[in-house]
Order: sequence, then structure tokens, then C-alpha cells
Amino acid sequence: MLKSYFDYFLKKIIAGNNYKDWYDTHYSLKTVSLKNRRLAKELEAACKRSNGVLTYAEYLQVDQFGRNGYHATHKEHGFQHIHTSTIKEIVELCIQNKLEHIVDIGCGNGSLGIEILKEARQRGYTLSWTGIEINEQLHGEIKKRFKTAKLEKSLIEISSSIQHKAKSHGKTLAIFSFSLDSMPPEIFMSSAASVPDTMIGLQIKDNLLTEIALTKEQLQQKGLIMENGIGTDIYKNKFDLRSWNLAKGQRAYIPIASFSLLKECINTYAVAQLLIIDEFRLPSNEKYREHVLVPRILQRFVRDTVDFKNLYENSGKILYYYPLPWNTIVSVLKSLGFQKIQSGKDAYSLKILLGEVQNPVGKIMLCRDIIASQRIKQSPFATITVDKPGSIH
Ligand SMILES: C[S@@+](CC[C@H](N)C(=O)[O-])C[C@H]1O[C@@H](n2cnc3c(N)ncnc32)[C@H](O)[C@@H]1O
Repeated sequence: MLKSYFDYFLKKIIAGNNYKDWYDTHYSLKTVSLKNRRLAKELEAACKRSNGVLTYAEYLQVDQFGRNGYHATHKEHGFQHIHTSTIKEIVELCIQNKLEHIVDIGCGNGSLGIEILKEARQRGYTLSWTGIEINEQLHGEIKKRFKTAKLEKSLIEISSSIQHKAKSHGKTLAIFSFSLDSMPPEIFMSSAASVPDTMIGLQIKDNLLTEIALTKEQLQQKGLIMENGIGTDIYKNKFDLRSWNLAKGQRAYIPIASFSLLKECINTYAVAQLLIIDEFRLPSNEKYREHVLVPRILQRFVRDTVDFKNLYENSGKILYYYPLPWNTIVSVLKSLGFQKIQSGKDAYSLKILLGEVQNPVGKIMLCRDIIASQRIKQSPFATITVDKPGSIH
């Protein structure tokens, strides 16, 4: 933080800026006028329904999936370029571990599932598939693609959320492919320099969005608790955030909803193994010094951002995703009972780095796959430890 201010000081000394300017630019709570008036109305209505204030995740849910949100108004979403070697490795994993069913969370247009099932068919191995995709506009397309590939018999169901009473379809591999990092996080803060003790809330009225630090009562109204660095979410899942020492005003974007979803998925299906394909890169050092795990913008070359005013102003126009550091996700998987956590090789990323294949979006992406297995059943009330990036217990 000091180094960051020092850099700022050197850059701005001629303009006569001071510490207060720097603090206000980076650490103050924002008030922003929204450009997209229709989305602003939708956000205002959501706000009214929630006692006048939204958490950041609640705001993002409308911003991304609302009637006037990103997904409803843009076409660039729900697909990835999956390299054939990844498909072969997944099928091999299923054969070797006698896995019978795949539950694909955030399955997009279903293309990963279809490629896996085609490869399995070629190898004479039977697999069934369930797709969970929050963007219901993609459900029809998924069905159409399965039909075209003559794979309808392998398709168990497509749903927008995990079904609590899902039937068991045998030994299951859960796949999270570029989906955990697209799920809305919450912004945690500390009212004094210490462990997180509050979250940012958003009030939207007359086109104006205002950030506030949520009081204990406001958190409680939403079914959230923050106590001594332990957070409890609406599903009563407890998160140990005590390794996150934050400066006053510093933001930490922690994807607790992703972690709750991981837990729900494991408990609902007979999940024997978990495969996560994501970006596990940290944001650049400079941004990292100011705030922790800031959002990335998919469509831009310089993708980390701390220009929160600009992000809010352009609500509904930006597709975000959030970095998931390696040690953070490993701490969560261990708390969920996985004994063995491996990092698979990511042949495709390696090829991009070596310049052997053209990167689909023209940018360097570093991603890895994680395979978690050998799970020992945990108490449903066990606290999930979420390590701060870089800190290891
Ligand atoms: C970047 S796309 C990846 C699509 C696909 N897995 C692939 O690799 O091609 C992420 C997908 O996750 C979906 N998603 C985001 N949050 C979700 C949630 N809570 N439950 C289910 N799907 C979600 C998004 O709608 C989007 O289609």
C-alpha cells in the first residue's frame, strides 16, 4: 500500500495531488451515475425488494443475468475453445476411475459435454451427462446440439441450478470449466486494518448507485453474518477468512458463492472426482497492492482493473471474471474433504505460450486444470477455510 502511494506520489507530484486524493481515488466508497437507464430501473426494483440495499453479488446477478444485463444483450458468452487433448484426457480419467456420469456446472452451450461424449462413444465407453447453466437462453441450444450429435440418450437433464433431490446417476465427475471464476463474488472489507468484518452494499435510486459498508443489521437482514473473520452465507456455510489481513478501505473480492456451489454440488450428486478448468493467475502486482482479486474484463487486453467507477458506470456492458489463486482454491477443496489435489498439465496453454497455436482471442491466457479426488465425507457444518492468495497454513 505504501509503495503504491509512493508511485502515485511521484507520478502526480507536479499536479500537486496529495495522500487524500490518492486515498479517495483508490479506497473511498463510490457514487456513480449509471449509463444504462433500463438496467438502472431493474437494479432499483431489485434493491427495493431487498430492503433498499444489494450485496455486490446481488448487484452482479442483475448486471450479468437481468433482462437488460450483459448476457441478454450480448452474444459473446457461453463458449470456450477446448483443445482435443483435454477431451481425450477427461475421457481417459473417466475410464480409469470407472466414472459413469458427468455433471457440467456452467456448461455454456454444452460443447465441452458433447465433445466428451463423442470421444467416449468412439472408445466404446458409456457416460451420461447433466448440464447446469444459469443462462436459460442457452438451454434450447444445448438440446439442439445434443440432438444433432445423436447424443440425446446420454442427456439426463439441463437445469439452471443444482437440483436438491437429484437422483444418483452413478459415480460422478463434476466439471467446472471456466465457470467458477465467472460467478459473482462479494466485496469484503475491514472497518479497521484487520480481518474482514463487513461487505460492500449497493443502493440504487434515480439512476444513481451508491456504495456503503453494510452494517451488522443489514448483513443480518440478508441472512449473512461476519464475526471475527468468520463469514456465514445465506446457506449457513461458514468461511474462515482470518488469513485475509486487509488495510482499512482495501477490497477483497472473495467468491464465496462459488465455494458454496462446489459444496452443494458435491453433496447433491455422488461426486467422486472434481475437475476444475480455470485461470489461476494472480492479478498484476500493481493492482494487487491496492485491492485483492479485482475483477477482470474478458474483452479487454489490459484486463485487471481498479477503476470501479468506470465499471459501475458501464453496468450491463461488461463481462467479468474473477481470478482464483491456486492456494485459495486448494484450501477450499481440502476443507470439502478432498485428500488428493493434482494440477493437471494444460497442454493447450503451453502451446499458446510457445506460439505453436493461435490464441483464440489473441491474448495470452494462463490456465490450469485441478483434479480433486479421494474425498472423505465432511460434516455439512464444517467451516470452509479460504486462504488469502499467497498465504499457506
Ligand atoms: C465462460 S462460460 C464457460 C462455458 C463452458 N463451461 C465452456 O467451458 O465452454 C461460463 C458459464 O457459466 C455460467 N454460470 C455462471 N454462473 C453460474 C451459476 N451460478 N450456475 C450455473 N452456471 C453459471 C455462465 O452463464 C456461462 O455460460
